[in-house]
Amino acid sequence: MSQKVQVYPIKEIRNQFPALKREFNGGEVVYFDGPGGSQVVKSSIEAITKYMENGGANLHGSFPSSHETEEIIANAKAIISDFLNVKPEEIAFGANMTTLALSIARALGRKWGKGDEIVVTEIDHRANVDTWLTMAEDRGVTVKWIKVDPDTLTLKLDNLNEMINENTRLVAVGLASNAVGTINDVETVAKRAKDVGALVAVDAVHAAPHIAIDREQMGADILLCSSYKFFGPHVGIAAIRKNIFENLNPFKLSPAPTYIPDKLETGTLNHEGIAGISPAIEFIASLGEGETRRERILSGLKQIEAHENKLADKMRAGLAKMDKITLYQADSSVPKTPTIAFTIDGYTPQEICRKLSEEHGIFVADGHFYASTLGDILGINEKGGWIRAGLAPYNSEEEVERFLNAIKQY
Ligand SMILES: Cc1ncc(COP(=O)(O)O)c(C=O)c1O
Repeated sequence: MSQKVQVYPIKEIRNQFPALKREFNGGEVVYFDGPGGSQVVKSSIEAITKYMENGGANLHGSFPSSHETEEIIANAKAIISDFLNVKPEEIAFGANMTTLALSIARALGRKWGKGDEIVVTEIDHRANVDTWLTMAEDRGVTVKWIKVDPDTLTLKLDNLNEMINENTRLVAVGLASNAVGTINDVETVAKRAKDVGALVAVDAVHAAPHIAIDREQMGADILLCSSYKFFGPHVGIAAIRKNIFENLNPFKLSPAPTYIPDKLETGTLNHEGIAGISPAIEFIASLGEGETRRERILSGLKQIEAHENKLADKMRAGLAKMDKITLYQADSSVPKTPTIAFTIDGYTPQEICRKLSEEHGIFVADGHFYASTLGDILGINEKGGWIRAGLAPYNSEEEVERFLNAIKQY
């Protein structure tokens, strides 16, 4: 696929995000809190409103609003299948990624017990760790941890053959760290898991707004993300490989369907939220070009990646020049999302984030962001964790400059 060099349409993009017009203490707000939840694109907000204004309904009714709801869900699954390179029928919705992962873990664990092993990592958000640990505890399954190198902030994969063996039932790994931005070598982990017949659960929540996701290329069996991280509303998304999903036995009500994906979608779904997912992915596709929607999504993500990386380089370089700052990032040879974690001597992360908000209208989050194992290893949880600045497609170079000028004052 060839891609023309084009100017990134930052002005047009910013116009599509109503939240960017918000003012705080007399100035326009800068949102660098995308890793905690991105702002929502206008077309998504409009689709949610339209769904509710038109008369929403539950499924399986013999009247138009019920049919329309079913159509909205089917359309959302079709576009997500292009977004993740999965089949529409493999997709299930839920409250959020964590709730879906807990449910999938419980269901899988029903077949596992003593002698079985699972593998989790030290770098991941605990949503892709504790979900599996709690199941393992209940079922007597052994847990192994892929270690993180605290100096390079990458996973140590040198002992993978020993770590993942014929007793391994599942390997849970994140595509990218929501704290320090490291993009993990999921393909290598998944390849080893496949060699011994283990399942691979990939947490793509943080990666999804930033890089192309290809379930097949990664070798994932269970792929999880959340649309509130990629410009849509709060809806969790799970894509489970069909043969595995068909054999899954989730906890559910007895009259509820036994077929996929409905058996995992317990209760009534967030229909209005689901209505907002397609426009969020269409927004990404609108930045790209290509004949098929998948091509446009991939090409749009390339545009986003180039823009975000340019801003991230500027932010990293600016911060690196400042004396009191400690940056927590893998070196330049390691691919990263534009998520920048740091601390400033003499202040707690919370103090800095409060000052940035009150004195400069810059919204940045502090804490361990549930990547608490990594925070423990780096010894920063007891000091309030990190300050985390995350870039999104709607952020501009001027905003990065505003941020660096503000940070300089501390
Ligand atoms: C990497 C990662 N995984 C999982 C989650 C949890 O997602 P959810 O809020 O949809 O449960 C988050 C949320 O911040 C995250 O960043």
